[in-house]
Amino acid sequence: MNPLVSIDRKRDFYAGHVYNAGMDAKAYAKINLTLDVLGKTADGYHSLRSVMLAIDLADELALTFDAPGIKIEADPPLPEMSAARRAAEGYLARCGGKGLCALIRRNIPPEAGLGGSSADAAAILRALQNRYRALAQDELVSLASRVGSDVPFLLNGGLALCEGRGEIVTPLPPMELHLLVVKPARGASTKEVFARLRPPYAAGATDGACAAIRKGDFAGLLPHVGNALTDAARTLAPEIAGLLWRMRRCGARAASMTGSGSAVFGIFEDAAAARRAAGAFGDLPFARPCRGVYDVV
Ligand code: C5P
Repeated sequence: MNPLVSIDRKRDFYAGHVYNAGMDAKAYAKINLTLDVLGKTADGYHSLRSVMLAIDLADELALTFDAPGIKIEADPPLPEMSAARRAAEGYLARCGGKGLCALIRRNIPPEAGLGGSSADAAAILRALQNRYRALAQDELVSLASRVGSDVPFLLNGGLALCEGRGEIVTPLPPMELHLLVVKPARGASTKEVFARLRPPYAAGATDGACAAIRKGDFAGLLPHVGNALTDAARTLAPEIAGLLWRMRRCGARAASMTGSGSAVFGIFEDAAAARRAAGAFGDLPFARPCRGVYDVV
């Protein structure tokens, strides 16, 4: 029997999402409402400024603590040295925990810019921290950023300004956004997209977006929504341009690529408009109305 079938039967609640034997966890995806590239750093990475939002698209995890060793099974499978495994290894090495068994039902499409593998890693770190409380907050964030650029943000989710390689996270006040997220069949590798990126980088929009969000100004946010990686990603997945165009034609008040692509999102006036627009993307393998998530636990 597929072990993932047992996720729904594994509910073993004691209190407030913290269990002795194990727990179920959700690993929420993210979108980048803005993504500015500031430049290349000495270690070959790019320093970024981005407004990120956790969304209600999630992988589902069933976790068992104190297992013998680390066992991670995912459907569809993850590579052997996944971010999830590196997160578990990194945390357990610090807390002296024996092991962790994680069954992961992957609902977040890969190579989409939705942070799927980082989300799994963040959910595992959150769960291990709930269980062992072995790391101070700054140690947890430091481990998270070594595991992956988006992991520090995904530890807490919500809406935030993320800077550096993603390790400097400044929470922003919540703003209700009605989204439609779509992804073409072709994905985009983050490494490849950054390798194709050439200066000068598109002008920054993140400051304007943060100012609008802090004022609760929905209309003021819309012109700042954008992504400096779009042109580089389009050289790998040319469909992105057409999807942005279709999204606007379907009534999106703003549309942009998320992360390094190839997924694209639209921001709609209300939930009904996002749902209606989803009907126009039936030709794609993935099209889903989404909302922000502010209660990541
Ligand atoms: O963060 P992640 O390991 O998924 O990134 C994959 C690759 O993308 C990195 O090895 C690096 O080449 C590039 N990258 C970058 N700047 C970032 C994030 C990723 O150049 N901020």
